[in-house]
Amino acid sequence: MKIFVRKGKLQDAKSQVIILNFFEDQKKLSGSAQIINQLCGGIITELINNRDFEAKPSQVSIIYTGGKIPAKRIALVGLGKKSEINLEKIRAAFAKTMQHLRSLNIKEAATAIDLSLLPKDKDKIVQAMVEGAMLGLYQFIPYKTVGREDIKEMEQLNIVVDGKDFSFIESEVEKTQVITQAVYFTRDLISAPSNEMTPSIMALKAREIARKQNVTCIVLDKAKMKELGMNSLLGVAQGSNEEAKFIILEYSGAKKNEAPVVLVGKGLTFDSGGISIKPAEKMDEMKSDMSGGAAVMGAVMAAADLQLPLNIIGLVPATENMPGSKAYKPGDIFKSYSGKNIEVINTDAEGRLILADALTYAAKYKPAAIIDIATLTGACIIALGDDVIGMLGTDDKLKGEINKAAENTGELVWEMPLWECYHEQIKSDIADYKNSGGRAAGTITAAAFLSKFVGDFPWVHLDIAGPAWSSKDKPYTPKGASGVAVRLLVEFLRNRVQKSRV
Ligand code: BES
Ligand code: MN
Ligand code: ZN
Repeated sequence: MKIFVRKGKLQDAKSQVIILNFFEDQKKLSGSAQIINQLCGGIITELINNRDFEAKPSQVSIIYTGGKIPAKRIALVGLGKKSEINLEKIRAAFAKTMQHLRSLNIKEAATAIDLSLLPKDKDKIVQAMVEGAMLGLYQFIPYKTVGREDIKEMEQLNIVVDGKDFSFIESEVEKTQVITQAVYFTRDLISAPSNEMTPSIMALKAREIARKQNVTCIVLDKAKMKELGMNSLLGVAQGSNEEAKFIILEYSGAKKNEAPVVLVGKGLTFDSGGISIKPAEKMDEMKSDMSGGAAVMGAVMAAADLQLPLNIIGLVPATENMPGSKAYKPGDIFKSYSGKNIEVINTDAEGRLILADALTYAAKYKPAAIIDIATLTGACIIALGDDVIGMLGTDDKLKGEINKAAENTGELVWEMPLWECYHEQIKSDIADYKNSGGRAAGTITAAAFLSKFVGDFPWVHLDIAGPAWSSKDKPYTPKGASGVAVRLLVEFLRNRVQKSRV
């Protein structure tokens, strides 16, 4: 869907539908709603007075204008109680509205933005509205051929602005579309089946990002990784016919000597579990085990499009985890890129093995911060559920920055401890570390393992095993790939820019 910001009055919009927002506890109509109500002979107040429309959160009612104004219909949208309004409610309401209009085969709509909804966060209101509308409309349809003509799609949303806020709203809409496009890109990568989203194809997608200004892409192949000694990553790749790739995206938005933020994303294009094979049920969902890598690629893409004045590195170790005849086996020991020896207890704990080498590589940039994002442990779903990101790390300030970004984006993050006692669980009897610490505190011991490969840099690990893939529709995340952490990372990066928000 394309979004346009236009000057004018909502009541004059010649649209298929005009979207108007209401609060549950709103006493009387104001602004365009009042004018439109008057022009249409009180149809809105009639609906409200008869309690056909109560403005409950995300409630949508459609009424026809009978030709009294240029627009054919009005969509009344509920925002719930005024005192309870927040960015998540705005995202949800706009997502539900757009989905509802799409189901009616409507192609185009007009709306206004009431910046007084949250007076302190004007920019965030615009962002939340556009995020809700765009993210809620996402559908992954390239593989549908039967009944393709029946697929409905919204084509256009016109945001009508009457007055001085025009350029402010226009620029916020622009920036948010950059972000939602990056989320679409990430969702597309994750939704693609693993036979068509191999490590090599992920690398090609990264090269596409490198066509943007100030972005370069380097891809290390198997030979190069062997030469460097990335044996932990290559060990995981042994059982697959697909060649592993180590994808490096470098975005230079600041002075050369400014320390970069390094984002590291797990790029397991398919995780069968390897020799410690997973049960068949839901194994198809393991095509999404590259969600962290895809989020990193999306975040770098958005940062470049927003021209953030930062240096940002994206590292994506990409491979399959397969039980081929050359596959690595429980008991195998690998000398990792760091030089530390890792004993493999369970070949299904492969994510931390590829991340170990990537985190070691990150040190080469002497980074200001390292953030890794991974669908790392089923234990994180047990601990926090399907909607929440697990956070562990060594730097309180960095964790604070992530928490702040999480609050703004609605991507929920909860911290878990990385206390010394947990490190016992990953000590190996005959090597330095083992790749599994057993079932107890599985998310924490996985992070403890990663910490052994992070140099002395501020570091945060985000476990997105829960929210990366959704088995049911959420308000602005249709079921399937969520693209979680793209908005979180972009918000974190934008907040990092010293000047005012860019
Ligand atoms: N990719 C999985 C984690 C996962 C599970 C993500 C379910 C999303 C949904 C990871 O590679 C894995 O298999 N982890 C194991 C670790 C264990 C063997 C120590 C797990 O969580 O069971
Ligand atoms: Mn696994
Ligand atoms: Zn995995």
